[in-house]
Amino acid sequence: MSGATEPELVTVEIMGKRYQVPDGMTVINTMWYTGHEIIRGVGCMGGVCGACATVYRTKDDFSLKVGLGCQMPIEDGMSFFMTPFYPAAKTNYKVEEIEHPKEELFKYFPEALNCRNCNACNKVCPQEIDIKGAVKDAVKGDFAAAADKALSCVMCGLCVSRCIAEMAPNLIALYARRNWSVFYATKHERLDKQIEHINNGDWDDEWAHIASLDEAGLKEFCKSRR
Ligand code: SF4
Ligand code: SF4
Ligand code: FES
Repeated sequence: MSGATEPELVTVEIMGKRYQVPDGMTVINTMWYTGHEIIRGVGCMGGVCGACATVYRTKDDFSLKVGLGCQMPIEDGMSFFMTPFYPAAKTNYKVEEIEHPKEELFKYFPEALNCRNCNACNKVCPQEIDIKGAVKDAVKGDFAAAADKALSCVMCGLCVSRCIAEMAPNLIALYARRNWSVFYATKHERLDKQIEHINNGDWDDEWAHIASLDEAGLKEFCKSRR
């Protein structure tokens, strides 16, 4: 007699084709289970890298939903596809060459002024970021506020897919985040000092010692540093 219980099967639709699959898997696992080769569109598997943007509908609900495929459990009647990349106009700039960060925002992202306040980007964001607000902050030159709002952006690109002004709100916020950290954020002396130590090779001997230890030696070493 077998004690194992067979998992319940559910029906899902992937890119228009139906499959019967065991319940309880995530979207990405279901893709793999059904033989789809996912190379682009999978990364951390922990909801952090933003590679696995997924667009889906659920049974008896007309609304289009989005989420991160590594985090979303499937359900019976779900229809989905993954969109690991959404074409965004990428502007190349080197932060270290920027002289006037706030003014130059409009050189690199002139479309930032075109926001129509539709809120579509906020509605679609799986991280529930006020990305519309971050764009507005960046336009106003308040890079600190923009950086704060967009801190948990995983660059999934879903806001780009919905923006009626055809901008990439995430990239505008990223410009603000980068420039804020380079030009305006408080510098941490201790961090600079530690980087200097690393660059000078001050801890190379200690790292070599750690790398040479076996498991028992590592435990002892960690205890000694508590
Ligand atoms: S702001 Fe845009 S790119 Fe960032 S997590 Fe939200 S939808 Fe994704
Ligand atoms: S989707 Fe585009 S136009 Fe609409 S609020 Fe967001 S940034 Fe503005
Ligand atoms: S694989 Fe990184 S967020 Fe899903």
